[in-house]
Amino acid sequence: MPDLLPLIDSFGRLHNNLRISVTDRCNIRCFYCMPAEDVQFMDRAELLTFEEIERFVRVAVPLGINKLRLTGGEPLVRRELHKLVAILAAIPGVEDIGLTTNGILLAEQAEALYAAGLRRINVSLDALTPEAFKKFTRRNGFEQVLEGIKAAQRVGFDLVKINAVSVRGMTEEEIIPFGHFARDTGAEVRFIEYMPLDADNAWERGKVLFAHEIIERLSNEIMPLIPEGATDRNAPATDFVFADGIGRIGFIASISQPFCLSCNRIRITADGKLRNCLFSLDETDLRPLLREAGSDDAIAAAIRTSVAAKKEGHEINTARFIQPDRPMYSIGG
Ligand code: 5AD
Ligand code: SF4
Repeated sequence: MPDLLPLIDSFGRLHNNLRISVTDRCNIRCFYCMPAEDVQFMDRAELLTFEEIERFVRVAVPLGINKLRLTGGEPLVRRELHKLVAILAAIPGVEDIGLTTNGILLAEQAEALYAAGLRRINVSLDALTPEAFKKFTRRNGFEQVLEGIKAAQRVGFDLVKINAVSVRGMTEEEIIPFGHFARDTGAEVRFIEYMPLDADNAWERGKVLFAHEIIERLSNEIMPLIPEGATDRNAPATDFVFADGIGRIGFIASISQPFCLSCNRIRITADGKLRNCLFSLDETDLRPLLREAGSDDAIAAAIRTSVAAKKEGHEINTARFIQPDRPMYSIGG
């Protein structure tokens, strides 16, 4: 039996949140994540099977993991993802399952996902015109994403959140339209500062549009934004609502206000590598333990060792920072 001490690292952070990447494939090519051409995807045989993912979660839950989020690549390109949702939702101790998707395939899958027990959806959408969408994603698909968001709201997903990566020189013209979008649709729009996880290695600090600049524009041009009382101190987003109570806006200020000190997350990549941080330079290969006859104790011990080795923070704002080899699509957002 694995022992039942919670996953606390050497900075006192308690880890209850697991992000599971189910594929590195994607049907679009966001410039802040993927290369434009010739992407080297994992071999299908390298991906953890649903059974292997289930096994990992069953070992992680007694260690205190109770929140899961499925990511990619684009998770909805993994066949029959709703079946994985149902498998995970049936594990005692799993309290909450979320999904981060680009929304392209969401309209056709929203209902099955909801029926399987998924309750939270975040949709990546960086721009509100087809032309600007294409600049971010290098693909068409804007209308499909909008349809996906509507379908998710229609089938009953609680609060659909929109993730918009904030890039200087691109996001400025989206700020006010997104403010109105949040007010009109009831979806929460969350601006995420562009992080150095792009496959092209083109990130520079000067390309990040900072949260405070967006707050200022929305407050001046629509109406003041009022901070929401923090409901979850581990949530990386700071949430605001417009002064009249209509329209929720969040910020993930990973660069200007790093939230590493309250991080509660671990991640497993689609090929079974455990990572204690998006920006880790090393990872633990759990696939041999999950696939061959590793004991549950050995898997639990590997999780503990990884958490114990977690660094204080990402150091993006220092000269010491080294961008990880794996870009976002291969880590899982
Ligand atoms: N910087 C910030 N956010 C990113 N995402 C992907 N790559 C980056 C990056 N380089 C976001 C996507 C998606 C989530 C998984 O992570 O928009 O919503
Ligand atoms: Fe695909 Fe998401 Fe990467 Fe965009 S950010 S290319 S949607 S995996």
